[in-house]
Amino acid sequence: MTRLIDGYGRTFPYLRLSLTEACNFRCSYCLPDGYRPDGRPGFLTLDEIRRLVRAFAALGMRKIRLTGGEPSLRKDLPAIIAAVAATPGVDTIALTTNGCTLPRHVRRWREAGLTALNVSLDSLNPARFAAITGHDRFADVWEGVEIAQTLGFASVKLNAVLLRGVNDDELPAWCEYLRDRDVSVRFIELMRTGDNQAYFERHHVRAERLEADLREAGWMLQPRARDAGPAREYAHPDYRGRIGVIAPYSKDFCAGCNRLRVTARGDLRLCLFGEFGIPLRPLLQSDDDFDALVARISMQLGLKAAGHGLHEGRTGMTPHLASVGG
Ligand code: GTP
Ligand code: 5AD
Ligand code: SF4
Repeated sequence: MTRLIDGYGRTFPYLRLSLTEACNFRCSYCLPDGYRPDGRPGFLTLDEIRRLVRAFAALGMRKIRLTGGEPSLRKDLPAIIAAVAATPGVDTIALTTNGCTLPRHVRRWREAGLTALNVSLDSLNPARFAAITGHDRFADVWEGVEIAQTLGFASVKLNAVLLRGVNDDELPAWCEYLRDRDVSVRFIELMRTGDNQAYFERHHVRAERLEADLREAGWMLQPRARDAGPAREYAHPDYRGRIGVIAPYSKDFCAGCNRLRVTARGDLRLCLFGEFGIPLRPLLQSDDDFDALVARISMQLGLKAAGHGLHEGRTGMTPHLASVGG
């Protein structure tokens, strides 16, 4: 069988599919002015998504993450989850969400076949949360995460982007949170995008600083699992939960890259910070194009670069992560 493999011997069992560019939050590092539609025609339909996922699965994709923007803004999200779950070969269906609709919808998503959940939660302090996201919805996200922990997901992970002077003093509060919860909290080093350059200069903190604090508090770096994501994982005997650190500026970050991206309009992106997308949408209009679609995807992989080069001073020109699905 054809496999997804690039010129550096990396394989790609993991697809990140953005379902929408729209978002109802205004995170200060991502969409500080809120989402503004650009008037171009819409996002991939359920049928297009079904064809896309079938082609990637035929090429060895096992795990899919539905992202955005905010994927729960799509009314057909349960149907999308069910369609992906019905695709042979796919065993992990994950979702990254800002969490504000979890109390209302998470049970339905689980029933439709969702297996893993990542929720953005940049602060444990409600006032700070509101200041960062532009919305006073901390209580909803909190409640949603509590419910999610009872539903038997393979993993529940929380994402907090580390921001100097905003939320970089919360490690003790997070440790308490993790004492009895089977949750992984990942601290993400702020990434510079095309739109947030001044903000980046003000608020960027190296993840290594946090890791020094973690070690001092007795957290121990865990051996890297073979199919691990980008996070370095820490555990502590006194705490049930785990802490992950995502440091995209560390120089070996890209060596373990195992993921491809497809944007909400159907462009294949070989790297989060790649400059261009390869349109797949024309080949998603009919089941008859399946072979051509598979061929286009595997041919393009030969072009994937070794890494994003950010640690060498290159700036990602992606305007913000909502446009490429993070
Ligand atoms: P799992 O390991 O599958 O749980 O997922 P994840 O950590 O990749 O997913 P999530 O959507 O929660 O993303 C967490 C953070 O990692 C986000 O800030 C992403 O933008 C970032 N991230 C994920 N993949 C990449 C990547 O390939 N390159 C870079 N630079 N950042 C990434
Ligand atoms: N740097 C780091 N993380 C970011 N995210 C969005 N924009 C950035 C950025 N510039 C995070 C969100 C979410 C995840 C998918 O990506 O907070 O948790
Ligand atoms: Fe929306 Fe996520 Fe961007 Fe926040 S980080 S504005 S929740 S897409």
